[in-house]
Amino acid sequence: MTESKSSSENEALHELAPAYEAIEYESMLAAKIEDESARISIIGQGYVGLPLAAAFSQAGFKVIGLDVDQERVGTLNQGISQTPDVSSEDLQRYRNDGSYQASADFSVLAESDVIIICVPTPLRKSKDPDISYVLATVDNIVKHLRAGQLVILESTTYPGTTQELLLPRFEDEGCRAGVDLFLAFSPERIDPGNRQFLVRQIPKVTGGITPACTRLAAQLYGKVVDRVFEVSSPKVAELSKLYENVFRSVNIALANEFSLMCRELGVNSREVIDAAASKPFGFMPFYPGPGIGGHCIPIDPAYLAWKMKFSNYTTRFIPLAEEINQSMPGHVIDLVNRALNDRKRCLNGASILALGVAYKRGVGDIRESPALQIISELKAQGADVSYSDPHVPNLLLDDEHLASVTVSDDLVRSVDCVLILTDHPEFNYRSIVACANLIVDTRGATWGLPRSAGQVVDL
Ligand SMILES: NC(=O)c1ccc[n+]([C@@H]2O[C@H](COP(=O)([O-])OP(=O)(O)OC[C@H]3O[C@@H](n4cnc5c(N)ncnc54)[C@H](O)[C@@H]3O)[C@@H](O)[C@H]2O)c1
Repeated sequence: MTESKSSSENEALHELAPAYEAIEYESMLAAKIEDESARISIIGQGYVGLPLAAAFSQAGFKVIGLDVDQERVGTLNQGISQTPDVSSEDLQRYRNDGSYQASADFSVLAESDVIIICVPTPLRKSKDPDISYVLATVDNIVKHLRAGQLVILESTTYPGTTQELLLPRFEDEGCRAGVDLFLAFSPERIDPGNRQFLVRQIPKVTGGITPACTRLAAQLYGKVVDRVFEVSSPKVAELSKLYENVFRSVNIALANEFSLMCRELGVNSREVIDAAASKPFGFMPFYPGPGIGGHCIPIDPAYLAWKMKFSNYTTRFIPLAEEINQSMPGHVIDLVNRALNDRKRCLNGASILALGVAYKRGVGDIRESPALQIISELKAQGADVSYSDPHVPNLLLDDEHLASVTVSDDLVRSVDCVLILTDHPEFNYRSIVACANLIVDTRGATWGLPRSAGQVVDL
């Protein structure tokens, strides 16, 4: 039997309808996350997206790794991993048990319960944020939208992107955040090649457009990480990531400038920093280096500086840190030049063995690597430069194909200068110091090893 309702009752019910709908979609998705039957699509299968996909596969979810790069999709489906944080054996296992599949067919999004965006967010030549990859991805999601989906942006971006850029695109399609669409930002914090902190050990910050969006995103990540840190909005989550990377950029710049001061004072900066680091509180050591590289530290601070311009606010720490960090490759070239000069050699015609071209230890990532700029400039000044990097077998530099050479005692003895640019653990620093005529060590890799007077120039 149906009861007829008064018009005021009907109005009240109408007002309550979105609330019921919201609870219905939220509880349906929450149940699927709880029993791991939620289907997850992760868009972008690079350094960030693949380890995340592997973590969800391992937790028992069915994951599709979407990427526009067909070649990468093919390789992943053969069980070959390109990132240091997922072994090919693990990937093959997930392929075989059906928990992971790579695809370039975005129509699968229609069947997904959860969509996570891990695409690049680089800078344009003008140093403005290039958000085009994120926008192209959102266009793809919108085409296959279905009520009740959870969409999470992980790509590092400027504050306000999720609320001001993504949300309106979904609202244009009639979606209501927290009712029939759940939207959140959760910054990726992975440190490629770091064996100590993998996906599970790195807490996940999560901020949704509404409390329901935050709840669902936090529940999802709770399946693969030990700790989820919920914040009040996507903007807080976006800013937390930028603050982490500005913090690193500024502290690296401080260490770099400090090393310049120590040189003037005739002291080794590493010895001073190590001494300061013996303080058990209130100090965190950062060390000087040949410059900053990778997809995060040289780029992300510019996202915040760009956004602040709209508030007529000119950031000061960010450009100062950038200026100091970007001056380091030139400083390294200067050190090589002077060290050769001290031996009555000139850079033009000198043979230099560069150790490491990746931007950091233990990985093969050469994006924004200062080593490239240094090698390129040394070659431009007439030096005969070869390189060795166990993680980068080949290199295209200034239209020239270079191949990594194998380090041997004879090779080290034969060159005028060994230039350590990346402190990969694979290099045998003890035997390098035993054989080399001259070492310029930009990473402190030979610090503490027995060396002859004037043999090693530290940064
Ligand atoms: N690499 C890191 O250490 C790191 C750490 C934290 C955060 N991040 C951030 O994570 C994001 C991704 O970085 P990454 O290092 O994984 O990049 P990456 O270049 O390794 O991988 C990005 C992948 O996205 C794919 N892609 C590009 N456009 C696409 C599109 N429209 N649809 C689907 N796939 C697309 C590319 O083919 C590539 O495979 C960036 O915002 C970055 O700043 C990176």
